[in-house]
Amino acid sequence: MSGSLILAIHIDFNQRFGYEPLLVRAPGRVNLIGEHTDYNGGFVLPAAVDKEAYFAVGLNGGSRIRLVAYDLGETLELAGAAEISPSDTHWANYLLGVAAQFQQRGMAVPGFDCAFGGTIPMGAGMSSSAAIECGLAFALNQLLGTGLEPLELARMAQKAEHTYAGVQCGIMDQFASLFGRDGHVVRLDCRSLDYEYFPFDTAAARIVLCNSGVKHSLASTAYNTRRQECERGVAVLQLHYPAVLSLRDATLAQLEAHRDELDPTVFRRCAYVVQENTRVENACRHLEVGDLAAFGQEMYASHAGLRDDYEVSCAELDVLVEAAKAAPGVFGSRMMGGGFGGCTINLVAPEHVEGFIASVSAAYQQQLGRQLETYQTTIVGGVAAVPVAVAR
Ligand code: GLA
Repeated sequence: MSGSLILAIHIDFNQRFGYEPLLVRAPGRVNLIGEHTDYNGGFVLPAAVDKEAYFAVGLNGGSRIRLVAYDLGETLELAGAAEISPSDTHWANYLLGVAAQFQQRGMAVPGFDCAFGGTIPMGAGMSSSAAIECGLAFALNQLLGTGLEPLELARMAQKAEHTYAGVQCGIMDQFASLFGRDGHVVRLDCRSLDYEYFPFDTAAARIVLCNSGVKHSLASTAYNTRRQECERGVAVLQLHYPAVLSLRDATLAQLEAHRDELDPTVFRRCAYVVQENTRVENACRHLEVGDLAAFGQEMYASHAGLRDDYEVSCAELDVLVEAAKAAPGVFGSRMMGGGFGGCTINLVAPEHVEGFIASVSAAYQQQLGRQLETYQTTIVGGVAAVPVAVAR
């Protein structure tokens, strides 16, 4: 946790509003494998990491809603809960969307103040938006005494993303931020929402993220299109296999059998998802027996599918994965998150991390003339209140 940042946000809140807030940290996430599977009822394998959003939140005893984006030095003020609606102020939508979810569940939202900031790079595929949503959902739940379970908070945060950010996302990011466990990755069944923690030993492999620095402006549109393409595939399969409720239930053989009824693009999208679900299951077995080499091969295969069939990669991400493949001590590498930019996730033997960063940075500079930013992450626990004593 960045003690100095949360302390700065705490002080800022005190100076602006003159009373003691609740302090909350909400982590971003990595996803080892299982991309674009969550909204297809499939499996994912994320973990919460030490790039986090920090909040100071309090009820102000009136009706005004005062929001402060500490990092941007921007504020937004509403006269009261009746004014909660999608805003032109981009960052505020993640907060307002969450407040709207409380209202939708019949919980009155009184005046509150919220200052937030953090260390999660924006647009890097590390779920900064989910962390912001989950952090405020957690804080309001505490302050209002609404007693909602973490899973409900995750659903509300996901809905906030749908309605106020316009991204029809699955539940992975919000789940990972709320349910993260120190030193563990979590396999989530995105249909049943059953989950299982697997220890992840960072002494055997470090999680290194390489930020392409590309923020694709069309990412949310393309994301929603992918989702629709998957739904079109399911609609065709359902004509023949009524038990197929989502791509999670489908097999490659079924897709092949009805290939001529499927648009070729839809076929490739669906084939990718079916294969990626299998890869998550395989990857978990490899993890259980500590076979990082085999785990890494699943990651490379995942990237190839995302690049060629799901078509959500980009030249920068492909260069980073190829450079990782060529570097010694790398178990696996692939693009992470929604795609069209953001980070690659790399599993690297600890003694090779320095050399890995040097060689991938050099390749990135040489091939694309771009400077590479990298992050070595550790796996942390999910959203939690921060004792004031720690922050000071
Ligand atoms: C984004 C979404 C998630 C998930 C990933 C792709 O991060 O928010 O729900 O679909 O993309 O795996």
